[in-house]
Amino acid sequence: MCGIVGYVGPRDSQAVLLSGLARLEYRGYDSAGIAVIDGAGELGMRKRAGKLQVLRDDLAASPLADGTTGIGHTRWATHGGPTDANAHPHLADDDKLAVIHNGIIENFAELKDELAADGFTFRSETDTEVAAVLLGREYAASGDLITAFRAVVKRLEGAFTLLAMHRDQPGLVVGARRNSPLVIGLGEGENFLGSDVAAFVEHTRNALAIGQDEIVAITPAGVEVTDFDGAPVETSPFEVVWDASAAEKGGWSSFMAKEVSEEPEAVANTLRGRLHEGAVTIPELDGLDDLFAGINRIIVIACGTAAYAGMVGKYALEQWTRVPVDVELAHEFRYRDPVIGPDTLVVSISQSGETMDTLMAVKFARERGAKTLSICNTQGATIPRESDAIVYTHAGPEVAVASTKAFVAQITALYLLALHVGRVRGALSDAASVEAVRELEAVPAKIVRVLEKEQAHIEQFARWMGDTQSVLFLGRHVGYPIALEGALKLKEISYIHAEGFAAGELKHGPIALVEPGQAVFVIVPSPRHSAELHKKVVSNIQEIRARGARVIAVAEEGDAAVLPFADEVLRIPLAGALFEPLLAVVPLHIFAMGLATAKGLDVDQPRNLAKSVTVE
Ligand code: M6R
Repeated sequence: MCGIVGYVGPRDSQAVLLSGLARLEYRGYDSAGIAVIDGAGELGMRKRAGKLQVLRDDLAASPLADGTTGIGHTRWATHGGPTDANAHPHLADDDKLAVIHNGIIENFAELKDELAADGFTFRSETDTEVAAVLLGREYAASGDLITAFRAVVKRLEGAFTLLAMHRDQPGLVVGARRNSPLVIGLGEGENFLGSDVAAFVEHTRNALAIGQDEIVAITPAGVEVTDFDGAPVETSPFEVVWDASAAEKGGWSSFMAKEVSEEPEAVANTLRGRLHEGAVTIPELDGLDDLFAGINRIIVIACGTAAYAGMVGKYALEQWTRVPVDVELAHEFRYRDPVIGPDTLVVSISQSGETMDTLMAVKFARERGAKTLSICNTQGATIPRESDAIVYTHAGPEVAVASTKAFVAQITALYLLALHVGRVRGALSDAASVEAVRELEAVPAKIVRVLEKEQAHIEQFARWMGDTQSVLFLGRHVGYPIALEGALKLKEISYIHAEGFAAGELKHGPIALVEPGQAVFVIVPSPRHSAELHKKVVSNIQEIRARGARVIAVAEEGDAAVLPFADEVLRIPLAGALFEPLLAVVPLHIFAMGLATAKGLDVDQPRNLAKSVTVE
């Protein structure tokens, strides 16, 4: 939540900041602003409520003077509504100093009282302005931005990425982070800061990750990273594995449309280099066999769509490792008193690698002595850095707020992990491994087939359902988390009521929701390998049909049993039971996108949401 970019170098910093903010807008889009130190040594600032385009239009109508030092921000409101005044940057020290912030400063009220007692006044309702005013007071005392910045960050509680610059020290931007993301982009005679590498990837793919409670100072000549006391610290350089075009819309109508089309690639890239002659080897896990040998329990923690991926993964983890698995929402896990220790492996799943709820749960698990493994899609992110082991998904940058290609990549990574751990623990037979690898290798082409055969039909059908007010989703076994995912996607981007249920739960309450015309998606398991479940789901379909429901079945090609009872049948290719979710979810993603589009909504930036939830 909130996108942050900083720049020092020879280019026009406004252009660098605005293009960086465009790539970070998925992080928050209720207001945006930039500040620039111009050639005459003056600090210019402009900020506007609304999407980035509002700021762009404002700057086009009334430009700021060019400068080569600047900071920019795109906001998801926490303290104070999305107004011009509450937008970032916030100025202090007679408007010579500018600050931007991502996170929540939990002790802002005390600090504000302290500063007010000193005679300082405020122009916004934000916690960020308190940090800016505090920095102004410290700067007045020391006359040095880095010294003042160190003094300020030590007084802040909560989560923050903070960037600041001062008119009297042009060519310098300072940043600090605690439980909130910040990465450095290394250029030639120029340097960058960003909430993630998307902020600067069009200029450089050389990046540095910085750790918790560290401060960075960038100038055109170099980068200095220290702890909050000023002691130098080691940094972790990495090369961004994708280029700027991967985070561009290209010819697509939306990022979500592009990302759904990339689902086959997301699976294929996550598998690449990890399958060898019917077995799985995950190079990142080399030398970590002990981590898996001593465990007797796995807990998967995640939020939202990533948690549904975890629920799908549970079936594979238990089947192939024979270790019991629980899946928990990260924010619930952390606030109970779980029985965990060195024999527990806590697997976190996060596309962004920055979700605060998940990060805090990982730290909590480590404090309790558990082993931690992160499944993550973002290089240099915090959660993998806080974990004992990492398995990256290779879905490429996901920009649309609604997660799609990351979901299939997460399930794929969980399956790879399950096969790896199963082999290490001797729980997986060679035959089962060979069969699973064969199924996994076939998934990308099968997703392509769903897209080719069903996309146009589903989009047309979604248009036809444009005024639907409520949709239910039913599934059993691995189809249950897919029902939850279908419902979440629809709520998130179409703003209509949608619920996912385990089909077996229907008669325990939810069937009361079914009235004539109620649309119900049903994920139908294959009659070939899940005959018993298939029969039960077909019975469930008849029960809701008898009450007037309009049934949309997602069923495998050739399953004729559903035809008499379904108003629509969306077909998926034949696959093994565990591999069906990777196919069955695709029509649901297309449907949610189609319905939101039919309603004229912005599928990439749904209201009230942000891509990366970096506050609790
Ligand atoms: O970055 P993460 O995978 O940790 O994000 C977790 C959820 O916030 C995320 O999956 C969210 O539910 C999506 N917007 C759903 O489409």
